[in-house]
Formats: sequence, structure tokens, C-alpha cells
Amino acid sequence: MTAPAMISFANGDQLPQLGLGTWRSEPGLVAKAIKVAVAAGYRHIDCAAIYGNEQEIGGALAELFADGVVKREDLWITSKLWNDAHAPDAVQPALEKTLADLGLDYLDLYLMHWPVASLPGGPQVPLEDCPLAVTWEAMVATVGKGLTRHIGVSNFSEKKLRALVAASDHKPEMNQIELHPYLAQQGLVDYCKATGIAVTGYSPLGSPGRPAGLISADDPVLLKEPVLAEIADKHGVSAAQVLLQWALHRGTVVIPKSVTPARIEQNFAAVSVQLTEDDVARIAKLDRHRRYVTGIFWVKKSGPYTLASLWDE
Ligand code: A2P
Repeated sequence: MTAPAMISFANGDQLPQLGLGTWRSEPGLVAKAIKVAVAAGYRHIDCAAIYGNEQEIGGALAELFADGVVKREDLWITSKLWNDAHAPDAVQPALEKTLADLGLDYLDLYLMHWPVASLPGGPQVPLEDCPLAVTWEAMVATVGKGLTRHIGVSNFSEKKLRALVAASDHKPEMNQIELHPYLAQQGLVDYCKATGIAVTGYSPLGSPGRPAGLISADDPVLLKEPVLAEIADKHGVSAAQVLLQWALHRGTVVIPKSVTPARIEQNFAAVSVQLTEDDVARIAKLDRHRRYVTGIFWVKKSGPYTLASLWDE
């Protein structure tokens, strides 16, 4: 099986361009998914405290290490700081909890999950009262302590990235954002590339498993897009594989979620799919700036966040 290409960081660390997503990977299924993925060749797993499954993932990793299937240093493990731990003195404890759950001494990458702050288990806090740059400096300190090798952000607009880059000596090394042909975000991807910030695309398959609150009857279904079906048929592959190769082809990291063994394997095999220039040009025309993970869950009545303030658009 062909391995995905690597994204190199300034210190020489290498991140496999294709990894396994674990958002909504159900308890009871995620441990098996991790083992199937590692057996298939995945060496990159994307986690987050809020997904509620890091303990089970940690159990699977412990077995893989004990059985000699893979070594810690051969894996790239990402996790994310939840909104209720943005206060500077909450950042390191949150990271330590994730490390304990995953059974690891260090992460490869720790991301600020959303540019949204809240009190533990409770009300939202405006960014003026808990600035992203302050949370960020607490994340920078965790690198110095060896708790994570790299840090970055998620769901950040170009405007928020520019502000953080200007405010800190430690540039974010990653921005993880929703990316697929209906939401190509080429401007943001180009800004990150020009600034030396790697980009990971989440929901690359159009997030068919997203929660009911994010689904409307008239939502376009990415996996049923006729242009993708035609390209997939021509190459004898699935629409999902075309989507994943599109993401790899444009130089982004991609983290499809699946707990289904055959899909986990199929998604990894997307590394070998070859798209023609014509395929890529046709896919580019599908862009409609359509988010599936809209962020609407952060917009509360009389709360400090709006969709406009969240995405800066
Ligand atoms: P499952 O985990 O039950 O296999 P995204 O990464 O865009 O959020 O997509 C994840 C969703 O897509 C999950 O519901 C997952 O289901 C499903 N999925 C993952 N891989 C494939 C595939 N190759 N074909 C169709 N659906 C897939």
C-alpha cells in the first residue's frame, strides 16, 4: 500500500498528509477503528478532548505499542484544546488530561479547537475578556515543557491568523479548517501557504455523519455530486477517494473519519488515485462556499459570538 506524502516542519518532524479523523467515532467502535487504520498503514490520528473518546483511543494505542505493531515515534497524534480551557492557567492541565487519556507523554500537535471561549461547562466569554493571543502564549509554554512538539489552531480565519502571527513570536504551525470542493477556501489556503502555516482539511467527505442540528433537507450531498461520480467512474474509484485525492493534490492534510474497516482501508488507498488536470479543473468549478459545520452552535441569544464574528465574513 502506498504511504501518503509527508508535510515537513522546520524542526524536521514529518506529518503524514492523510490521517484518521475521530470526531463522532463512537465509543465501542473507535478502538477497533484505530487498530484497523494502523494495520492499513495510517500513522496519523486526529483527536480532540471534546470528542469524548480519547480514553478509548489511548487503550488502542497502548495495545498497539505493547504488541510491537507500531512505536510511539512512528505515529503523529494531534489533539485539541476545548473552548472551556482557554484561560491561560487552564491550558496545560487540559493538555495533561488529554495526554493521560491517550496514555502518551507528548502530542505531536495541539490545536486551539475554536476561536471561542467559555467558562468550564458554562457561559461563553467574549474574546475581549479572554483573548486568543493570551491562550496562545499558554500553548506556546507547553511546547517548551515538551508536552507537545507543535501547536496550531483550528477554525481560524485569515484575519484571526494575521492577528496571532503579529502578536506572537511563535507562529501557528497548522490551521485545521473545513475543506472540500463545495468549500475550497482557496484564499485562506493560499494565505497559510504563503505564511508557512500548514493546512488540514476536516469534513473532506462533506460530513455525512454530522449531528442532526447541522443538517437541513436542502443541503447538497457532496458524496452524491454528479461531477465527482463521473470522475470516480472514469478512474474506477469511489467519490470519497476522488475527494481525498483532491485534498492531497492541493497540498493539504486530510483526515477522513470512519469507523468502518472497509472504508478506513478505501480512504487510505485514495493516496494512489491519479486525477487529471481536467478532473481538477472540473472539481474547482464546484466551489460554492458551503459550510457543513456552520458554527451556528456558537451563536447564542445575547451571546458574544455571531457567524460574522466567527468566520470574519
Ligand atoms: P462511518 O464512520 O460510519 O464509516 P467526514 O470525514 O467528511 O466528516 O466524513 C465522515 C463520515 O463519512 C462518517 O459518517 C463516515 O461513516 C462516512 N465515510 C467515511 N468514509 C467513507 C467512504 N469511503 N464512503 C462513504 N462514506 C464514508
